Amino acid sequence: MADLEGLMQRYRSLVPGIMESVLAGKRLLVVTHIDADGLCSGSAVFSALKRRGANVTVRTVPDLDPKTITELASQRHDFYIFVDLASTLVAELEAALGGRYLVIDHHEISEADIGNQSVVNAWAFGYDGGREACSSTMAYFFAAALDPANSDLSTLAVVGALADRQESGPGRSLTGLNRSAMEVAQKKGLLMVSKDLMFTGRETRPVHESVALTSTPFLKGLTGSKDATLALLHNSGLELKEGGAWRTISSLGDDEKRKLTEAIAEALGSEPGATEALAGLFGEVYTFRFEDPFTPLRDAREFGTLLNSCGRMGLAGIGISVCLGDRSAALKEAMRNLSDYRSGINRALDAVTSDASRVEPHGRLVLVNGEGVVDERLLGPVISILTGSPAYKDKVVVGRATSRGNDLKISSRVGDLYEGAVDLGSVMREAAAEVGGVGGGHAMAAGAKIPASRADAFSKSVADRVSG
Ligand code: C5P
Repeated sequence: MADLEGLMQRYRSLVPGIMESVLAGKRLLVVTHIDADGLCSGSAVFSALKRRGANVTVRTVPDLDPKTITELASQRHDFYIFVDLASTLVAELEAALGGRYLVIDHHEISEADIGNQSVVNAWAFGYDGGREACSSTMAYFFAAALDPANSDLSTLAVVGALADRQESGPGRSLTGLNRSAMEVAQKKGLLMVSKDLMFTGRETRPVHESVALTSTPFLKGLTGSKDATLALLHNSGLELKEGGAWRTISSLGDDEKRKLTEAIAEALGSEPGATEALAGLFGEVYTFRFEDPFTPLRDAREFGTLLNSCGRMGLAGIGISVCLGDRSAALKEAMRNLSDYRSGINRALDAVTSDASRVEPHGRLVLVNGEGVVDERLLGPVISILTGSPAYKDKVVVGRATSRGNDLKISSRVGDLYEGAVDLGSVMREAAAEVGGVGGGHAMAAGAKIPASRADAFSKSVADRVSG
C-alpha cells in the first residue's frame, strides 16, 4: 500500500546524519542521470542541500556501471547521493564506498536490497516506480524532509514525472506520489492544472505550428509539417489570425477546438488507430504560472522535452542550470538546442517514413533502419515517436543507427496497444550478449550497442524472442 508517511519518516530519519556532514563542511557529490527526470531530480537534491549550506557538487552520467563507480569513488568525496540510478548496483556501491552513499530512486530493486538503509526506493513504499513515482518526485520529498520551505521544488517533480511518461491516469494525468507532489505545486500557486487539447506550444505558437510540433500522438502527414497543417486548417474555415496576429490553441473557444479536432480527424481519415490518436489529444495540462509564456518552460511537458533535448545532445549541465533557475544564457542555449533537436528528429522521421525499404514489418515486430540518416543521439526519441503513431501502437518497434567504431546503436519500444507480454530490457540484454554487444533497459523501452557486422543475427534473435 502507498505509504507517503512511511517515506517521509524514512527521509526525516536521514536528516540528522546529513546535516552533521553539512555542518562539518564535508564534500558531498550528487550523481544523476542525463535524462529529464535525472536532471530534475539531481537539481532538486542539489538545491535542497545547497540551501542548507552544504559543500555540494552535482554531476551527470549517461549510465552508471562498475567502472564509473570506481572512478567516482577515486574522486574522494566524503558522501555520495545517487539519484535516478544505482538501484541494481547496490553491492558495487557498498564495495566501493562502504556506508558513504545514499540512493534515491524509482527503478525496480531486488528484494535483497530493498531494506538496505542506504537506499530509498519508491517500490519499498508501495509506489509503482514506473507509473506513480519518478525520481524527481522522490527527490522532491527528500528536499521537503530537509526543509519544508523547499515546496517550490515540487515543480521539478511535475516536470520529471511527465518527461518520464508517468502520465498513467485518465487523460494522461499524474497519479500516486507524483500527484501528491503536483498538489503541493498547485497549492503553492505555482502550477495550474486544467483540461485542454495537449498540443505542443498551445499557449505560444500559431495553431498550425502547434499541431505540426506535436509528436505525442504522432499525427501522420501533420507532425513535422507546418505547410500541410496550415493548408488543412485554412480549408477547415478556422479563424487562424486575429487583428493580423496568429492565434494560439489556448485562445480558441470550445467550438473552435472541436472544429480543429474534426479537421485533424478528417486528415487522419481511415489511418489505423486514428480514433485513439485523437482521444490522446485531450487531457490534463500543467502550466507554470510564473514562467514566461513565450518559453517552453511554461508548459510542464515542454519543459521536460527541453531538458531531454539537453541531455541527449550533451548539454546536461545547461539543463541543470535551467532547473536551478537560470532564465538567461542557459535558457537561451537550451532553446536553441531544442530547436535543432526538433528539426533533427523531423528530418530523421521523414527519412525513415518516406523510404519503405527502411521499415520492415515482421508480424508484431517492426524493424526500422536508420543507418546513415538518423543521428544515434536522436534514435531513442525517433523510435518513441514512431511507436506512438497509430500504425505502430500495437507493435514492438526496434530501430538501428550508425554508431562509432563499426557499432550500431539500437533503440526499442513497445506500443501502448501491444497485446502480449514482452520485457524489452531482457530481450535487448540477451540478444545483444549473443552477438558480442551490450543491451538493457526497461520492459517498455530498452536499447543496445552491437557490432554492425552482426546486425542480421541480432535482428533474428530479437524476432525469435518477441514472437516466442
Ligand atoms: O537510448 P534509448 O532511449 O533507446 O534507451 C532506452 C532505455 O534503455 C533507457 O532507459 C536506457 O537507459 C536503457 N538502456 C540500458 N542499457 C543499454 C541501452 C539502453 O539500460 N545498454
